Amino acid sequence: MNSVISIANLSKTYESGFQALNNVSLEIENGEIIALLGPNGAGKTTLISIVCGIVNASAGMVTVNGHDIVRDYRQARASIGLVPQELHTETFETVWNTLAFSRGLFGKAPDSEHLEKVLRSLSLWDKKDNKIMTLSGGMKRRVMIGKALAHEPDILFLDEPTAGVDVELRKDMWQVVRELRESGVTIILTTHYIEEAEEMADRIGIINKGEIILVEEKQALMQKLGEKRLILHLGQPLEAIPEALEPFKLSLKDGGFNLVYTYDVQQDSSDITSLLDAIDKAGIQFRDLETMQNSLESIFVNLVKK
Ligand SMILES: Nc1ncnc2c1ncn2[C@@H]1O[C@H](COP(=O)(O)OP(=O)(O)O)[C@@H](O)[C@H]1O
Ligand SMILES: [Mg+2]
Repeated sequence: MNSVISIANLSKTYESGFQALNNVSLEIENGEIIALLGPNGAGKTTLISIVCGIVNASAGMVTVNGHDIVRDYRQARASIGLVPQELHTETFETVWNTLAFSRGLFGKAPDSEHLEKVLRSLSLWDKKDNKIMTLSGGMKRRVMIGKALAHEPDILFLDEPTAGVDVELRKDMWQVVRELRESGVTIILTTHYIEEAEEMADRIGIINKGEIILVEEKQALMQKLGEKRLILHLGQPLEAIPEALEPFKLSLKDGGFNLVYTYDVQQDSSDITSLLDAIDKAGIQFRDLETMQNSLESIFVNLVKK
């Protein structure tokens, strides 16, 4: 995979003295959907704003399609579309003019075919002559995406695309984003909804207090998610795990009072039967047992708590 955006050692301290980003490095791959997941105030908008040239970095370097965002600002910015967190549209303008004007700002020649394609892909074609103030909230959001795509960028940033949007509209938005990716656009979205990252992303980057604390393929995260633990609460503490139980790769916790078995949810349940059998044969007695499942939520909460 080749990177379309390369972020190296990026830091940002605002004039107030507040450090919003601390040494962030991230490679964004061509054609992927990457979700930057983090709580409010984590630095997501700051990161996006730097890549899009709205905020200056204090340290570090970013290239977009090989163009340095400071030295080659125009080339770098030309390949980026940004849908900001706060929607501000010229409410008296028509949908068509909003897109056409935005395209012009990037110095691109008018191209009604492209604008038609964008509007159709966002199911806005029949609204092209409507004033934005007459549209519903969901449509306004789609107009903002259309505006961001008017100059034919191959990278799209969506900053909290569904914050404050009801569940049904959120699903529509996800579908729109998937279709955009299929058309070859690389998508970086930020969200504080775990479900959104889970649903949409090829990769998930978890950001907290200005640092990226984990970047992983969603599939790999899902495997962690599929991991379950069986915890046996013992009547008497064990000093060591008996040899006969070694194949189960158990661990001993809480001063020997808890015996923990980690297994895959998809795994054959006969393994648990044979474990319990072996424990019985080893003469170990337990008072109680419980199972626990990792979820993206628990992974996230643990990471963010640290
Ligand atoms: N212009 C600014 N001046 C000072 N602090 C700011 C400014 N913009 C954002 N911050 C602070 O930086 C932190 C990160 O903000 P932001 O990037 O908007 O986070 P997120 O998008 O993850 O919610 C927050 O604590 C925010 O208050
Ligand atoms: Mg934000």
